[in-house]
Amino acid sequence: MSGGRAGVYAGKLCWAPMVRAGELPSRLLALQHGCDLVWSPEIVDKKILQTERRVVAGTPTIVEYVVPATLRGKGRQGPGECVFRTAPSLEAESRGLVFQLGSCDAELAVRAALHVVKDVSGIDLNAGCPKHFSVHSGMGAALLSTPDLLCEILEALVQRVGRPHDIPISVKIRLLPEQSATLLLVERLCKTTGISNLTVHCRTRDTRNSAPPDRSYVRQLHEVCQRHGVSLVLNGGIRSRGDYEQVCRDELQLDPTRDLGGMIAESAERNPTVFRRAGPLPWTTYVPQYIREATARGNHLGNTKYMLGRMVPGKSRFYRLFTACKTAESVEKVARELEQASEDPPESSKRPRR
Ligand code: FNR
Repeated sequence: MSGGRAGVYAGKLCWAPMVRAGELPSRLLALQHGCDLVWSPEIVDKKILQTERRVVAGTPTIVEYVVPATLRGKGRQGPGECVFRTAPSLEAESRGLVFQLGSCDAELAVRAALHVVKDVSGIDLNAGCPKHFSVHSGMGAALLSTPDLLCEILEALVQRVGRPHDIPISVKIRLLPEQSATLLLVERLCKTTGISNLTVHCRTRDTRNSAPPDRSYVRQLHEVCQRHGVSLVLNGGIRSRGDYEQVCRDELQLDPTRDLGGMIAESAERNPTVFRRAGPLPWTTYVPQYIREATARGNHLGNTKYMLGRMVPGKSRFYRLFTACKTAESVEKVARELEQASEDPPESSKRPRR
């Protein structure tokens, strides 16, 4: 079977799906700094299906999916909790937001995708997360061991969401321990499901993110995908746009603007400007920009502080100052101090030279 759009994400450098790190302000900042396409954090089918869509009062550009007050929540999720936010009418986010689903059930996956479809430009299935909360219920990387189910979910998404709404359906996988098994799985996914894109995190389920990625047979994976008109997005250990282009050209002998796409997670979490063609900016420049975005979009304080913990170097005094903040106003105050400090020459350079 063929279907979907051939090569839909080829040539694009993407913000990876990241729980906590992939909220609206960081996605917008990355898009402003040269990122071509952003992924939402993984959201589980049942969780998004509990929510109601609403446009945030006074901010016509922000759409929220919120657990209604009438529902009793489980764990951290409760009535009033915002599960997903986007700004579909903002120029940046409208360029492309792929919604990543966690699912192990075709019917729930289709219903969840239909719930958000009008606010997103693509739906992706997570078949790579190795964390216990995903795999214990058969989601994420567990789907790599149940290929019939994986294909059934993707086929249902393609036929009942992708085609009627004309949006790409994609999947994100990890490498299997054996090269031949990975190639067979990718062949099957590309040939039978109708997906438009396959993202491969070039590590196995048991490999830690700190280990180097295995790109030894990316060219073969690319050949399989290309044969079926499916674009391949490369993920794992890419540090910046420059690094991505170098990996493609020197290591893989592939054209980064045409043959495949790239996806960056941890490096982009620390520095959302790694997508810039002119090279990443220093943290003293993008941290105040991030805080302006977080304030403008009404980001949850806990999430803003989490991101600042990732972006600000631990040895800077600003790390401690941000950590101590209890309100959004205090975060903005420290941001102004940071901007002031970045504009002023350091004290030492003001002293006359002897
Ligand atoms: C992730 N990753 C991830 N993957 C996914 O498919 N869905 C998700 O929601 C998440 N969440 C997530 C959160 C955080 C904080 C990190 C660091 C990572 C995995 C991520 O998308 C990517 O596949 C790996 O991090 C490998 O890419 P890098 O970090 O080597 O560029």
